[in-house]
Amino acid sequence: MCGIVGYVGKRTAQNVLVNGLKRLEYRGYDSAGIATLDDEDNPHVARSVGKIAELENVLLAKPHEGHLGIGHTRWATHGGVTVSNAHPHHVGNIYLVHNGIIENYKELKESLSGYKFNSDTDTEVLAALIDKNYTKGVSLKDAVAKAVKQVRGTYGIAVFSPNEPDTIVVARLGSPLIIGIGNDETIIASDASALLGYTREAIYLNDGEIAVCTGKGAEVFNLNLKHLNPNHETIEGDVEQIQKGGYDHFLLKEIMDQATTLHNTLSGRIDPANGTMHLGGPNLTAEEMRNINHVVIVGCGTAYYAGLLASYYMEQLVPDLTTEVVVASEYRYRSFHLPKNSVALIVSQSGETADTLACLREIKKRGVKTLGIVNVVGSTIAREVDGGTYVHAGPEISVASTKAFTAQVVAMVMFAGMLAGYHGGNVELVSKITNELAILPKEIEKVLRTHHDEIKALAKKYVKYNDALYLGRDTAYPIALEGALKLKEISYVHAEGYPSGELKHGPIALVDDTFFEIFDIIDNWLFDKSIGGLHEVRARGGKTIVFTNSKADIETDDIVRIKSKITILAPLLLNTLQQLFAYYVAVGRGNDVDQPRNLAKSVTVE
Ligand code: F6R
Repeated sequence: MCGIVGYVGKRTAQNVLVNGLKRLEYRGYDSAGIATLDDEDNPHVARSVGKIAELENVLLAKPHEGHLGIGHTRWATHGGVTVSNAHPHHVGNIYLVHNGIIENYKELKESLSGYKFNSDTDTEVLAALIDKNYTKGVSLKDAVAKAVKQVRGTYGIAVFSPNEPDTIVVARLGSPLIIGIGNDETIIASDASALLGYTREAIYLNDGEIAVCTGKGAEVFNLNLKHLNPNHETIEGDVEQIQKGGYDHFLLKEIMDQATTLHNTLSGRIDPANGTMHLGGPNLTAEEMRNINHVVIVGCGTAYYAGLLASYYMEQLVPDLTTEVVVASEYRYRSFHLPKNSVALIVSQSGETADTLACLREIKKRGVKTLGIVNVVGSTIAREVDGGTYVHAGPEISVASTKAFTAQVVAMVMFAGMLAGYHGGNVELVSKITNELAILPKEIEKVLRTHHDEIKALAKKYVKYNDALYLGRDTAYPIALEGALKLKEISYVHAEGYPSGELKHGPIALVDDTFFEIFDIIDNWLFDKSIGGLHEVRARGGKTIVFTNSKADIETDDIVRIKSKITILAPLLLNTLQQLFAYYVAVGRGNDVDQPRNLAKSVTVE
């Protein structure tokens, strides 16, 4: 995600900011910038699209003097990847960098008459709001506090104004900010790795806190401006350890981060009180929404499986709809026909997958509306679709896709929930799923925490097997496919996913004591049938592991049983545990889990 740095002290701010931004590069970004104050208190801004090296070229041509400044690496959320959307943003007397999402930025923008906006970002609106509050006699700290109280969403911000040239004000809600206390210098960052080399003494700002930073240190307040006495902590570890958030691999971090990333996917899009969901991006009129009669979902690999799972929910939510989920590399060459009033969901984490992009272009040629379900903002697919939604999962660094899967399914479920509203669909189910979505981030966090050690031990037990079958029915079938894909790509164990109803049609011939079989079993109307498949495998000597949310007694070698209020979306919970299982099997086999052999993160060729 985006990264923030700030500096006030005796060194040349530009150098500290650029070094700090380089330390944050691993998080993924598409543009970068800094704003500084020179020794005559004149502000200077430099921004560029692309790598930090581009920003360095800009600064080489026109270096910044001065000892105070803020910097940012941007991973686009609102607005494309352009210099004018890059941070820092400058409005009136305010210079601002921001991580997070301002959900009510449109409402706020309407209330800010008299301001001219130069970007498409929510951040510029926040800068204007602070500027509006920064009236005569009001300090920057007070203006920031007043402004952020009006904000709905998440933020980590660093702000300065030439009017108070020795001060940077920072604030946080749901987006980390750390203040490094040095010797006559203060360094601010969204990630402790940017502080190393300057200091190990730090204040970790809490949600709802604001701090005034000068070269002499930092004073911390709550939003009612009550003075607080924060703990000064010691930053442990080296740069690499900190970047992985203390985890051994990015993959593990991305699995464990899913509660946070999902919060971003859902932010501002569900209304549990009214039991409704709403996505802003489809760009379809009410009439077009009402007329949709067929949805084709296109993707590759994990994105395809996300589409498959979403289609099960879509059919239940909007009964007058037909759905079709297709593998992009096949579909692009088929003589496909789509009924009038179809809509295509183009699913891609990277937004650059060649086959998916080719399908998008083929579908557009047939005059069908295309909607992107994309993670990387400004990617080719995001630019070429007619509308769509970003899944806001943040950068996925590890090659295997994990948090993007969960976010993609959720985004498509929200699309279906919204569609149901226009089609007089299953309103009761929309409401139930909305309520499940509202608690899903917390439940994912709980399930991952509760079962972590158990999964680790399970992976150790099965680490030597070279073959696995993953089986599931209904909504557990797509996660059986996804579970098998995750295992094979990072552990190199041969794994196949099957609908368990297909066992007798072939795969049961494979069962012997060299295989293990994972059964994903959801406690629903097909429970007994799933148990039937399990018995068939056990009767032939298969070693079985059951992942389930059922309380029933189940005869099996091993069982991972989750307890959760989530029932309809339970496959998403089970899937996160399968991700963890694949991770620990791969680690146990000594593999490079973040860069598995033969695979690339973004498949931009056929
Ligand atoms: C699996 C994986 C791949 C991708 C597929 C599509 O872990 O990473 O199967 O899901 O290559 O990539 P995107 O979503 O970028 O289009």
